[in-house]
Amino acid sequence: MENNILKGKKGIIFGALDNSSIAWKTAESVYNEGGEFVLTNAPVSIRMGSINELAEKTKSDVVPADATSLEDLENLINVATEKFGKLDFILHSIGMSVNVRKGREYTDLNYDWLTKGWDVSAVSFHKLMQSLFKLDAMNQWGSIVALTYIAAQRAFPNYNDMADNKAYLESIARSFGYFFGKDKKVRVNTISQSPTLTTAGKGVAGLDGFLNYADKMSPLGNATAKECADYTVSLFSDYTRKVTLQNLFHDGGFSNVGVSQEVIDAISSKS
Ligand SMILES: NC(=O)c1ccc[n+]([C@@H]2O[C@H](COP(=O)([O-])OP(=O)(O)OC[C@H]3O[C@@H](n4cnc5c(N)ncnc54)[C@H](O)[C@@H]3O)[C@@H](O)[C@H]2O)c1
Repeated sequence: MENNILKGKKGIIFGALDNSSIAWKTAESVYNEGGEFVLTNAPVSIRMGSINELAEKTKSDVVPADATSLEDLENLINVATEKFGKLDFILHSIGMSVNVRKGREYTDLNYDWLTKGWDVSAVSFHKLMQSLFKLDAMNQWGSIVALTYIAAQRAFPNYNDMADNKAYLESIARSFGYFFGKDKKVRVNTISQSPTLTTAGKGVAGLDGFLNYADKMSPLGNATAKECADYTVSLFSDYTRKVTLQNLFHDGGFSNVGVSQEVIDAISSKS
């Protein structure tokens, strides 16, 4: 699937930690389709992960930025636009809950940790778009994508306060997407991805059972990180210019299934 559909397009990709990251697969797919980009992550993640390997592979520069810091974001955007001129695509692939990391139950949240989590997972998307908007850094018909999960719409007990962060993130996409569309002709969407085995994914308690359940519920099975990357490529391309303010489910059909025969059979055989 290499058709050079991103030839000439330039952007920024946030969130490639290691080769299981959705952002890592996206960087590879964008590169294979002819796109060029700056890679970025929080300084600590750059030290702990293997982003330099990806940078070498995709012939891209790495610019550290804590996505909650306006100063870091501005510096990153300036470096990218000095290199490329105005930008065509942005991937926000960032999520973190301190409460999830430290095993705090949803009914016993630490609110300092909650605040940190929503800043990293949701408000960072507003900070990023506001910085791009003010610096007039996006080309017309550019595309901004953030990654989310269906726990924003339905109750998933183990997803904890990340569910609320994702609801906040999706709302920011719509609210800012309105202004980005009107003023700059730029589209803003979120992709609601299947559960996926990544460092962030592994933070969700009981992930294995959860992955199996989602897979059995989805007529097409769970979507992989690579498939998510390819979907993102389509949203960065000129084939989706009028798609904006959407939360797009990329989940093998999971979101519209009530129950599948496999799940009925699994439960029936135990009773
Ligand atoms: N894995 C899943 O099951 C799944 C499902 C749906 C959506 N998502 C979403 O996909 C996105 C990517 O996650 P992933 O699964 O690839 O895991 P990942 O752990 O590989 O990526 C999360 C990234 O967020 C970065 N990050 C954390 N704090 C940051 C900060 N302050 N500044 C900049 N970057 C920071 C991390 O360094 C890491 O690279 C997240 O938004 C996640 O919620 C994941």
